[in-house]
Amino acid sequence: MSSDRRAFLQTAGLVTLGLGLRGASTLSAQAPAAMPTDRAKALMAKFGLKCPIFQAGMAILAPPELAAAVSNAGGLGAIGLTGATPERGRELVAQTKAATKRPFAVNYILVRDCSSFRAAVEAGAPIVQFSWGLPSREQLGALAGAGTKWGVQVASGEGAARAVDLGVDYIICQGTEAGGHVQAIRSREETLPEVLAAAKSTPVLAAGGIASGRAIRRALLDGAAGVLMGTRFMATREAYAHDVYKAALTRAKAEDSVFTICFQDGWTSAPHRVLRNRTLNRWEAAGCPPPGQRPGEGEVVATTPTGVKRLRYAGTSPRPGDTGEVAEMAMWAGVGVGSIRDVAPAAEIVERLWAECLNA
Ligand SMILES: Cc1cc2nc3c(=O)[nH]c(=O)nc-3n(C[C@H](O)[C@H](O)[C@H](O)COP(=O)(O)O)c2cc1C
Repeated sequence: MSSDRRAFLQTAGLVTLGLGLRGASTLSAQAPAAMPTDRAKALMAKFGLKCPIFQAGMAILAPPELAAAVSNAGGLGAIGLTGATPERGRELVAQTKAATKRPFAVNYILVRDCSSFRAAVEAGAPIVQFSWGLPSREQLGALAGAGTKWGVQVASGEGAARAVDLGVDYIICQGTEAGGHVQAIRSREETLPEVLAAAKSTPVLAAGGIASGRAIRRALLDGAAGVLMGTRFMATREAYAHDVYKAALTRAKAEDSVFTICFQDGWTSAPHRVLRNRTLNRWEAAGCPPPGQRPGEGEVVATTPTGVKRLRYAGTSPRPGDTGEVAEMAMWAGVGVGSIRDVAPAAEIVERLWAECLNA
């Protein structure tokens, strides 16, 4: 095993061990209990929201139906446009605009395919939200030209400071509790104070492992102006995911969310959080070997309705209509999965979470 891989796996072990250690932070102890906090109110006013709940753009898994439902309920919905062609990006923005008159975001993972970026801005995407890097000068020029607001997900105070220098409208602080691909290397609790300090007056959202009203309340009391949630919104009627995946989210415990590098194809060495399943168990039992040496590599685990074969370690999660051993595919999930117990319409989730946050 290379020293890089060993270091990663040691970190992953520490992260897992650290999960249960979260206590009341110093900031929580000092913060007033009044809800919404002043920072949350300012964020809601800035974006015209009824609650400071942002939905993560999750590539193809976050379609216009989901984004519009979240935005119509008063949160900020997002469509995931990473990997979309310019034509498709334009079409998805138009569909979302037709389904909501409220603001929404489009999301891009900057180290992946962002070829629809210009088309999405030209089509009138109200907000662009980036992750895994900072937008280029050219992208910033396009945003400024169209008067489009933008936000970025970071994992350190340094990332936040650089985003502030570029004129960012909001910052998302991701911790290693997050589902999907994880750019963070430390827990949210550890990272949030330095991101808040570097962000100065720019609003900061907390992301990673937040899936209940109580967790939102804690994040706001820790100084976040709002939250960004991915995993909770996968267990909604509108998320573009297979029912087997959604059902697995409603049964899982926090410990079933594993920080790993098991599922990599194309996007190598990007850590991620997934639900423990047979593929992960086999890989761990074999000593976590690198691509090329993983058990069952090359096996077809599922087939799409159009006949596309999904291989065991693919970075694709089960989608509607897929058949086969879909539960052996990557099922992205953060540690907040332990508080998800149902699949419901996204609007109901937003309303329920916010009521729970206010009344917790
Ligand atoms: C299913 C899934 C897909 C994701 N896809 C993306 C993505 O395309 N772009 C992105 O910036 N973040 C993506 N993320 C990460 C989110 O931005 C966010 O950091 C994460 O969802 C927060 O943690 P949580 O899932 O515990 O709420 C994804 C997360 C999940 C769960």
